[in-house]
Amino acid sequence: MNSIQDKDYVCLDDFQKSANERLQSSSFNYFADGCNEQFTLKENREAFKRYRLRPKLLRDVSNIDLSTTILGERISWPVCLSPTAIQRLADYDEGEVATARAAASVGSVMTLSCLSTRTIEEVAAVTPRGVRWMQVQFFKSRQQLENLIKRAEKAGYTALVVTVDQPVRGHKYKSTTDYNASLLTFTGHAKPVNVDLSDGEVDFDNSATWHDIKWLKSFTKLPLVLKGITTGDQAKNAVECGADAILVSNHGGRQLDYLPATIDALPEVVAAVKGSGVEVYMDGGVRHGTDVFKALARGARAVFIGRPIIWGLSCKGYEGAKQVLDILKDEVEKTMALIGCRNVNEIEPSMVVHQDYYRQQAL
Ligand SMILES: Cc1cc2nc3c(=O)[nH]c(=O)nc-3n(C[C@H](O)[C@H](O)[C@H](O)COP(=O)(O)O)c2cc1C
Repeated sequence: MNSIQDKDYVCLDDFQKSANERLQSSSFNYFADGCNEQFTLKENREAFKRYRLRPKLLRDVSNIDLSTTILGERISWPVCLSPTAIQRLADYDEGEVATARAAASVGSVMTLSCLSTRTIEEVAAVTPRGVRWMQVQFFKSRQQLENLIKRAEKAGYTALVVTVDQPVRGHKYKSTTDYNASLLTFTGHAKPVNVDLSDGEVDFDNSATWHDIKWLKSFTKLPLVLKGITTGDQAKNAVECGADAILVSNHGGRQLDYLPATIDALPEVVAAVKGSGVEVYMDGGVRHGTDVFKALARGARAVFIGRPIIWGLSCKGYEGAKQVLDILKDEVEKTMALIGCRNVNEIEPSMVVHQDYYRQQAL
C-alpha cells in the first residue's frame, strides 16, 4: 500500500495519538513535554492557526517542483529533520539509523543529535549519499567537542548545528514526577553513545559565550548553523561571529517558557540578517503542509521538524518515520498547487496574512 493511503495514519497527529498508546508513559512524556507551564509548547502550534492564506488562482500548477538548496546542497523539498536525543527510546532496534534512512529516502537533511543512541559513523554508513548535519553543544570538556567535530567531518557530515539555547536544561514540571529522563539520567539502550557521561549526566558548559562561536568557526571548516535564536539582535550577533545559517527555534518549547512561537519570531530574525547571505530556517510546531508554507512565506528558507519523526519511529520504526515525511510532503505539494505556486521562488510574503487582517476588514 502507498504509505500515504493508510486509514490509520492520515495526518501527523495520528502518529502522536498512536505513539501515546504504544510507548510507556514515561517515554511518551519525555518526548512530548515542554517546560514549566508548557505555554511555548502549545503556542508553537496555536500561532500557526492565526495565519490565513491568500492564493493566486488559474496559474497552471500541473508541475510542482519543491526542490531547493540549503547551504549550497540541493534537497528535494524544504523540510528537514531537527536533532532529537535518544531515539532508541522510540525505536529500540534502529533509532537514529531509521531516521537517517527515512530522511534520505525523501531527500531531506538529517540532523544527528550529539545525544544520539547510534554512533556518528553508523548513521553515515546507512546513508552514504544522504545529506547529514551534526548537532553539537559546548561541553565542559572542549576535547570532547573537538573529537565529535572531527568524527563528524571524517564521516561526511556537511554542517554543524550548534545549539545555543541550552546553557542549562529547561525545567519540566510534568515529567519530573514520573521520569528521570526529563533530567536525562540515561540508562540501558537509551544512552548517548557519542559522548562521555559523568554520573549519567551530560556536562554542558554553561560558561560558553559568543567568543566560543568564533573559536568554533576557526576550528572547523564546516558551515555553522546556530540553533535556538528567536530575536533580531541575537541574530545579528550570530552574523558577526561568522554563522552561516540560523535555525529559529525555541527548542520545541522545552527550554525557556514564554519564548514566542517561532512562526511569530521568524520575520524579525529574517529582517535582522537581510543582506548578510546568512540563511534562516525555523522549527517548532510544524505539523501540516500549510504550516510549512506559512513559514516559507514568512521568510524561512527551510523548515525543520522534531517530534513527528519520534512519533513515526514509535509507531513503525523506519516505515513510520518515512510515512510521516511522505504525508507531509504530499500536503506541502497540495498546498503549493492550491495557492498557485509551482516552486519555492513563487511563494510571496503577501500569500500569508495574520488573522487580524480580516478583523480590520470587518470593521
Ligand atoms: C525528545 C526531544 C529531544 C530533543 N533533543 C534535542 C537535542 O539533542 N539537541 C537539540 O538541539 N534539540 C533537541 N530537541 C529540540 C528539537 O531539535 C527541535 O527544536 C524541536 O523538537 C522542534 O519542535 P517540534 O518538536 O514541535 O517539531 C529535542 C526535542 C525533543 C522533543
